Amino acid sequence: MIKNSLTFQFLKNPFSVGAVCPSSPELAQEISSFAGLENASSIAELGPGTGALTGAILNKKAPEACFFAIELNLSVLEVFRKKFPSVKVYNESAANLADIARRENLTKVDSVISGLPWAAFPSALQDELLSAISSSLSEEGCFSTFSYLHCPLLPAGKRFREKLSRYFTRVETSSIVWKNVPPAFVYRCRK
Ligand SMILES: C[S@@+](CC[C@H](N)C(=O)[O-])C[C@H]1O[C@@H](n2cnc3c(N)ncnc32)[C@H](O)[C@@H]1O
Repeated sequence: MIKNSLTFQFLKNPFSVGAVCPSSPELAQEISSFAGLENASSIAELGPGTGALTGAILNKKAPEACFFAIELNLSVLEVFRKKFPSVKVYNESAANLADIARRENLTKVDSVISGLPWAAFPSALQDELLSAISSSLSEEGCFSTFSYLHCPLLPAGKRFREKLSRYFTRVETSSIVWKNVPPAFVYRCRK
């Protein structure tokens, strides 16, 4: 249904959805590579939307790995649940990651993949989410997230890049994924 599409939800909630259309298969491939998925025993996807990255995660993860998603928007969640009925998804804020991990009987999470629209978030929310992610990540864990190419030029995107270096000791960027609207790249972070 159109009202459950990411585009419609973006028009309704631009500051929490943050994307006009879902990520491309090429961006899904880039973000799911080098995220340590093959060896992760626990994986969390934050802000899956309608699931543009989820198929790539499912293809790479070990069959026995614990995998769950956290999505705030109930309308896109309905689409997600229909597409991926086997994936456990929480209709909460990703700021609750540590608590949700505990409910999954996990002490830490090995790989966190995020589709959250960081450049649309105020500073306090960026901190709340990054703090939840870094405190939930295992020592050898990997946090992967994407940014649109233009976002580091915007104040909130620049601020987000600076915060990544405060919350993580290693921050790497991928090459640019041109086949995405808009073009994007991936940040890969380690504790
Ligand atoms: C840019 S869309 C990305 C969707 C999909 N991952 C993709 O790459 O196409 C961002 C998603 O994050 C969700 N979101 C925003 N804030 C959130 C929060 N605090 N916790 C969980 N999900 C959130 C939005 O509802 C939206 O579905």
